[in-house]
Amino acid sequence: MTKNAELVELTNKYLIENYGRLPVAMARGAGAKLWDADGREYLDFFAGFGAGGVTGHCHPAIVAAIKSQADMLLSHGNLFTNEPQIDLARRITENAFGGKVFFCHSGAEANEAALKLVRLAAGEGRYKIISFNDCFHGRTMGSLSLTPKSFQKGFEPMLPGNVMVDYGDLDAVAAAVDDETAGIFVEPIQAEGGMNEPTAEFMQGLRRLCDEKNLVLVCDEVWTSPARTGKWFAHQHYGFKPDVMTLAKAIGGGLPVGACVASPKYADVLVPGTHGCTMGGNPLCAAAGAATMKLIEDENLLDRAEKIGGQIVQMIQDAKIPALEQIRGKGVMFGLQFDSEREAKPIMMTCMEQGLLVCIAKKNVLRLAPPLTIADAELEAGMDILINVLKG
Ligand SMILES: Cc1ncc(COP(=O)(O)O)c(C=O)c1O
Repeated sequence: MTKNAELVELTNKYLIENYGRLPVAMARGAGAKLWDADGREYLDFFAGFGAGGVTGHCHPAIVAAIKSQADMLLSHGNLFTNEPQIDLARRITENAFGGKVFFCHSGAEANEAALKLVRLAAGEGRYKIISFNDCFHGRTMGSLSLTPKSFQKGFEPMLPGNVMVDYGDLDAVAAAVDDETAGIFVEPIQAEGGMNEPTAEFMQGLRRLCDEKNLVLVCDEVWTSPARTGKWFAHQHYGFKPDVMTLAKAIGGGLPVGACVASPKYADVLVPGTHGCTMGGNPLCAAAGAATMKLIEDENLLDRAEKIGGQIVQMIQDAKIPALEQIRGKGVMFGLQFDSEREAKPIMMTCMEQGLLVCIAKKNVLRLAPPLTIADAELEAGMDILINVLKG
C-alpha cells in the first residue's frame, strides 16, 4: 500500500467525513507547489479555498516569523495584549479604513462577531439582516443564517428575520428594508457562489442605503483579501467603505486568523463582556498574519496580482477555449464560466491527474487562485496544463 493510500484509509477511520475529501494526503508545500505523501508534485491554483493563498506555501519570511515567535510565546489569554496582534491590527486598519480589530480564527467566527456587533449597534428591536442569493458566510449557526437555504437544510430554525435578495438588485434590497432591519452582509465578489462580481453602482448604492436608513454595512472579505484582487481589500475597487469588514483565510499566511474590523464609528460597540475568543489574537497566529501583511507590502504583491491576473486572462482569451462563456474576477481570483453542457468537476479531476490543482465554484464554474508569489515559469506551466485540458 502506498503512503497516500495508507493515510487515506486512516483518515476514513479516524476523521469525520464532512468534507467529501479527495483520496490524497498532502505532505509538503513550498511557494506555488504542493507534494503529496507519495512525493507527487502539484502546482497549486486551488489555494486551499483561498486560505493557503496569497503568499504561497511556507513562505520563508512567514515561516521565520512563526519560528521566532514559537521560541518566545504561543498564547497568554486575552487579559493581556501582545505585540504581534497590535502589528497585524495596525497593518489592517492603516490599509483599510481605520478603526479597530477583533481577532478570532475563522471566517465564520469573524462573521459571528460582526453579527453581534451589528445587533448591538442597531439597538433593541432591530435584528434583521439582508444578505444575497448565492452568498456564502460560513457554517456556524449565525453565519449559516445568512447563507442560502441549500446549506441550512436539517439545521433549522435559523436566526429569525433574515432576508435574502438577488446580488446586484438594489431595488430588491431597498424593498427588503423595514424598521427591524439592522444591517447588510455583502461579499465584494461572491467566491463560493460562482465568482460573481457586483458593479460599483450596486456597492455604492448599498452604502447610500445604509447611510439613509442607519444600517450597518458589513463586507465579507474572507475570500477576497488581503491583496488577492489587486487591492489590499476588494471593496476598494468599488469606491466605497463598509462599516465593518470580516477577514480570514489568507490573512494568516497559512495559520488560522479571523478578524472583524470595525470602522471608527463602530469601533467601540463591542465592550467588555459582549464578545470574546480565548485564543483570538494569540501571538503565534498574529505573527504569521503580520508577516503576511509585511510581505505583501515589501514584495509589492498588489501590483503582482494585477500583472499575473492580466497574463492569465490573456492566455485564456488567446487559447479560444470551447464552451467558455465568461471569465470573471479581479487580480488573481478567477471564475471560468462554461456553458451548461460543460461541468467544472471533471476538468478539476483531469487537471489534478496532470499535476495542477484547481477548484470549482459552481457546477459550471472553475475557480483559479494561484499565489501572488508564483514564478513566471510556474504560472506558464500551470496554464499550459489547464489550457490543454480545456481544449482536449
Ligand atoms: C466569503 C466567505 N465568508 C466566510 C467563509 C467561512 O470561512 P471559514 O471556513 O474560515 O469559517 C467563507 C468560506 O469559504 C467564505 O468564502
